[in-house]
Amino acid sequence: MMLKSVQIKNRTLEIPVIQGGMGVGVSLSGLAGNVMKNGGMGVISAAHPGYRHPDFRKNPLRANCRAIVEEVKKAREISQGRGLVGVNIMVAARDYKELVQATVAAGADAIISGAGLPLSLPEYTHGADILLAPVVSSGKAARLISVTWDKRYSTVPDFVIIEGCMAGGHLGFKKEDLATGSCQTLEEILPQVQQALQPYREKYSKNIPVFVAGGIYDGADVAHFIRLGADGVQMGTRFIATEECDAHPAFKQALVTATAENIAIVQSPAGFPGRAVVNKFINDTKQRGNIAVQRCLACLTPCTPGNTPYCITDALIQTVSGNIDNGLVFTGTNGARIDGITTVRSLMTELIAEAEKALQEEK
Ligand SMILES: Cc1cc2nc3c(=O)[nH]c(=O)nc-3n(C[C@H](O)[C@H](O)[C@H](O)COP(=O)(O)O)c2cc1C
Repeated sequence: MMLKSVQIKNRTLEIPVIQGGMGVGVSLSGLAGNVMKNGGMGVISAAHPGYRHPDFRKNPLRANCRAIVEEVKKAREISQGRGLVGVNIMVAARDYKELVQATVAAGADAIISGAGLPLSLPEYTHGADILLAPVVSSGKAARLISVTWDKRYSTVPDFVIIEGCMAGGHLGFKKEDLATGSCQTLEEILPQVQQALQPYREKYSKNIPVFVAGGIYDGADVAHFIRLGADGVQMGTRFIATEECDAHPAFKQALVTATAENIAIVQSPAGFPGRAVVNKFINDTKQRGNIAVQRCLACLTPCTPGNTPYCITDALIQTVSGNIDNGLVFTGTNGARIDGITTVRSLMTELIAEAEKALQEEK
């Protein structure tokens, strides 16, 4: 069986693979454009895409909004007209509304929004021709977002990403559940989300495709979740270990050498638990206590510079720039399985072939 393309409202996603948005600077136009070129959805992270712009420290919002427009344009050039381009905007971003508006102005195909519930997202897009997708970790969250959008804006999500507990970056689960391994699995959450969306599919006569994320490694995983009723997958960590990923090669190498034993749950200053490689930086923060914030960029809520353990923006800029020992290396559990660097083309080709083989075998 061939992998099916996914119709999302007025757009077609040729290959049902979304590359997850990864900040700071891990997924910019280099990675996103190449995923698009191979038929998937490339996603640019709106978490400080302007971090290399000369005016970034002086006016981060202006630099980031300009960068969104530039990166979307570059991604489309690289894609040679294939695929879709999305921008990932965290609800926890203090300048959420402005970043959404810059994404609409950039002419992106989609906004994917998690790290909080994007309850007001449709208000900021004003009916623009852009797909809106929340990232959820439970059926309850999918229901709450749908109820709210329906009531307030007479609309519902165009597609939904379910992010499970094996993902990288900030996680939508309780620290205790992550520690005890008692989070719901993607297999458990998927039917709950499908059920939550069903009344809205009927009310709006609209397909609301669902993509699963967190721990998807190979084409067999893609086939597994398609069989369970997902429309496709979103993958982050595997795309980091590609030549085209926008992070410094030392970041990619940190995943090649990472093992299951040195990947752990850490507390992010944004208040969410996150998953990262336990490196010198993580050990230092444990031993030395808080690292004073030099200059706050007012990036995430509810971070307060006076008592934050460290500045997450600085920590992520360090790693994406190659200073691995002194920064935060976010990764999914798959970081332990990465054993080399590949190209986006090879990875996409392999995923498609493996998924089609697995779907074929099942028939
Ligand atoms: C380095 C890194 C940075 C990430 N940054 C973000 C982000 O800025 N916003 C977001 O919503 N998700 C972020 N994520 C989550 C990814 O978009 C994706 O959903 C997740 O990594 C999927 O799980 P996987 O890594 O196991 O494939 C990040 C993940 C990683 C590994």
